[in-house]
Amino acid sequence: MRGRDITSVPLSDMIATLSNKKKNRLPKILEHASGDKRFKILEAHMKKHQFKQDALIEVLHKAQELFGFLEDDLLLFIAYRLKLPASRVYGVATFYHFFTLKPNGKHTCVVCMGTACYVKGADKVLAAVEEKARIKAGETTPDGELSLLTARCIGACGIAPAVVYDGAVTPRQTPEQVLEKVKGWIGHGN
Ligand code: FES
Repeated sequence: MRGRDITSVPLSDMIATLSNKKKNRLPKILEHASGDKRFKILEAHMKKHQFKQDALIEVLHKAQELFGFLEDDLLLFIAYRLKLPASRVYGVATFYHFFTLKPNGKHTCVVCMGTACYVKGADKVLAAVEEKARIKAGETTPDGELSLLTARCIGACGIAPAVVYDGAVTPRQTPEQVLEKVKGWIGHGN
């Protein structure tokens, strides 16, 4: 049996469970999701679980692997696809300590540490940012400018090593390039 695509479930199914503010955001999220490979991989993962609601924790794990953290739009997308109330998805994501919600930093830098990226030097890319920003992966700089995170294969192995700056997947990053990109986000130096 073929799985449903992102657009085939009536929006009204999910919209009925959302607040007005979130209702307005959903079409935009779905549009964005259709062009982001990470959402497609997540979609395939949900399909593997036949979009079952009791696969929620499993799906959240996969989402965190792909994105590095669980931001609002991602949680809404999951709620929509599993036909769960958004409150339930938020509840589970906030209850378990192994899930990371969107970090506090004004900017985010997610370094993919999946196999393809790792063998192409993602560890050196990560180490360069850690050293320059004086934080470890998973932390935010004290001034709140930059949160540094890691992900496990963001579905862009062909352009490894990949880094996601404020949601933009960027190909073939070197330590020099990543430092150039984040230097404006690091308050204590250049
Ligand atoms: S391992 Fe980094 S994109 Fe696949």
